[in-house]
Amino acid sequence: MKQQQPSGAVDMSNSYDDNEIVNNSSNAHMSDIMSLRLNRRQALMGAVSATTTMLLGTASLSACGGGDDPAPAAAQAAAPATAKLALGFTAVAKNKNDVVTVPDGYQVSILHALGDPLHYGDESWKDNGSESADSYNRRIGDGHDGMYFFGLAEDGKFQADRSDRGLLAVNHEYVVQPYGLHPAGITAGAIRLASEVEKEIYAHGVSVCEVKRGTGNDMSMVRGSRYNRRVTSATEMAFTGPVKGNAVVKTKFSTDGQKTRGTNNNCANGYTPWGTYITCEENWLNVVARAAGDNAKRSAKEVAALNRYGLPENRKSPYLWDTAGTDDLFVRWTSSVTEATAADDYRNIANTFGWVVEIDPFSPTTTPAKRSALGRFNHEGAWPALAVAGQPIVMYMGDDARNEYIYKFVSKAVWDTKDVNGGMAAGAKYLDEGLLYVAKFSADGSGQWLELTFGKNGLDASNATFAFADQADVVTHCRIAADILGATKMDRPEWGGVNPLNGEAYMTLTNNSNRVATTATPTGNQLKPDAANPRYYEDMKGTTSQKGNPNGHIIRWREAAGSVAATSFAWDIYLFAAQSDAAADVNLSGLTAVNDFSSADGLYFDPRGMLWIQTDDGAYTDVTNCMMLAAVPGKVGDGGAATAAGGTATVKGANATADTLRRFLVGPKDCEITGIAVTPDGKTLFFNVQHPGEGGTLAASTSQWPDSQTASASTKRPRSATVVVTRKDGGAVGV
Ligand code: FEO
Ligand code: CA
Ligand code: CA
Repeated sequence: MKQQQPSGAVDMSNSYDDNEIVNNSSNAHMSDIMSLRLNRRQALMGAVSATTTMLLGTASLSACGGGDDPAPAAAQAAAPATAKLALGFTAVAKNKNDVVTVPDGYQVSILHALGDPLHYGDESWKDNGSESADSYNRRIGDGHDGMYFFGLAEDGKFQADRSDRGLLAVNHEYVVQPYGLHPAGITAGAIRLASEVEKEIYAHGVSVCEVKRGTGNDMSMVRGSRYNRRVTSATEMAFTGPVKGNAVVKTKFSTDGQKTRGTNNNCANGYTPWGTYITCEENWLNVVARAAGDNAKRSAKEVAALNRYGLPENRKSPYLWDTAGTDDLFVRWTSSVTEATAADDYRNIANTFGWVVEIDPFSPTTTPAKRSALGRFNHEGAWPALAVAGQPIVMYMGDDARNEYIYKFVSKAVWDTKDVNGGMAAGAKYLDEGLLYVAKFSADGSGQWLELTFGKNGLDASNATFAFADQADVVTHCRIAADILGATKMDRPEWGGVNPLNGEAYMTLTNNSNRVATTATPTGNQLKPDAANPRYYEDMKGTTSQKGNPNGHIIRWREAAGSVAATSFAWDIYLFAAQSDAAADVNLSGLTAVNDFSSADGLYFDPRGMLWIQTDDGAYTDVTNCMMLAAVPGKVGDGGAATAAGGTATVKGANATADTLRRFLVGPKDCEITGIAVTPDGKTLFFNVQHPGEGGTLAASTSQWPDSQTASASTKRPRSATVVVTRKDGGAVGV
């Protein structure tokens, strides 16, 4: 999502920008460090377990298409030696049409869109905003984002290799456009209408629905399935891990800090090897306010923490949910001291968001858990490393704001395949105890994971910057801990993923307008380029100049010594996004008309090892709508040294070619393409279109999608939706 700016009631002076910079630390930039030394490459991580084989399904395994290394042992055993993964479709041309454009031989259908009823008893979407607030507890929410497909067996359990029937969990990040949800858009004014806010609270969160193939590989939602479920910004959830019961999360709702209500602004996602869904809380500042004069009622430490997380005093939230009345449903959106103690008000509500939340889609009555050991920040998502029996469970995570960090969680418990289908108990086993790390990228292509543990690395009560009281304090304020340790500030970490064929991890760095020239004197929150965020250049959008790193890049790393728990790694930049006609030191990956793109956001390795890249762009949108590309990546170290626009040295991967990267689809007008899942057999692909027509208004809509997909003269409202893509000949997608 680019920005949260509903019109009407919103006080724009306080509107929240999802790209907002709140990192004021003075960590060294890598331009200040060393010249490149490429001879320190570490060995390819080789271990892929039997568990991985199980998760992938034997039919889907194939050798990595991008390098000379042999495939990992498990893959070799299961795949014919000749089964190279190869792209096999005609690239879709860039365009600005109000439809999803897929390659010849492919077809699309809409699985579900904003407002569709999950159960019987509620009316279908009326296209006039008349649906009741309460009905959104049973309808598909707004702002479709991250998602995951879980194969569903006849006994109601997770079956990793099942493709024809499953549970699809989808994030509903935010209320995209006021004209979608309400009869006439948001009612203007500084005070919100309770009925509208209530509807918005229930339209956020997560949906789980059963999906099934009918004829062919197309999928439909099973309306009325007992698995269909909504989790919203009002759903009760448990705190687990270090903050459970800690003073930092005590509220009027939970005076002992054991629980809270709601998950918010669920952007990207994750999944676990035991079969649960992970949803992550990104731009929760959209809905959390803080009153004027609140600093005087707080300790200096609390004020520093709130400021570092982007919540200074006298900050209204863009959605103004706290203004809708005196009911607890609304009052709780102000993180302000209003009563005698934290057990009497919601001064700590900000500390209840920014977490990783685990949901068991197979057990609709279980309480979701905020897994606090994985830290609190603008959580884009959480992506597991390959699950290796006897090794820890590892999650990679990014903090999506300019100049924020990449994190890694390593569980204390080691993976036992008997925990598949272990539900929330398995989640507690693997995600409540472990070590949290933050990444430091060095200019020589090596990197380190810096440990964020109370009592280590100066993270204790004697720290001069922030007196950490305990591990709850560290995970709640891990941005501050990461500042202190000197982690590397990145160009907005968005999605990550792990290559199932070799264990290497990837993460998109979508863009950063606050990079300045190496010769400039940075002011405020500006940064000079560094090796891991190396480009500084000017990009023209029509006649508008955009400076910094407007197109973004994708970084990747390989853990040292083949261990997911390693504390060092080797990295390179897999891909630089650029227009194909850009200068050579901007278009460093050699993109052409069949694969040029800007601002990667979503990223997903499907079970076969095909990589999918999705864009949420504002730089190339004068030429094309946002898009999705398919890739067959190589591996860390398959390229070499390069000098980026602006003069900074870096390490890049092999150039892209039409054989390794190709545009698979283009979305409708004013949308973001985000969220993707592919069935284990590779034959059904799901992706999400978020905020079509976001540039318009209710009166003058710029998109009528999804109706426009089949009705060119549509006058219907645009809606976020999940799209199903299949091949007309019944084959696997992408190949
Ligand atoms: Fe919700 Fe970072 O995109
Ligand atoms: Ca984005
Ligand atoms: Ca995103």
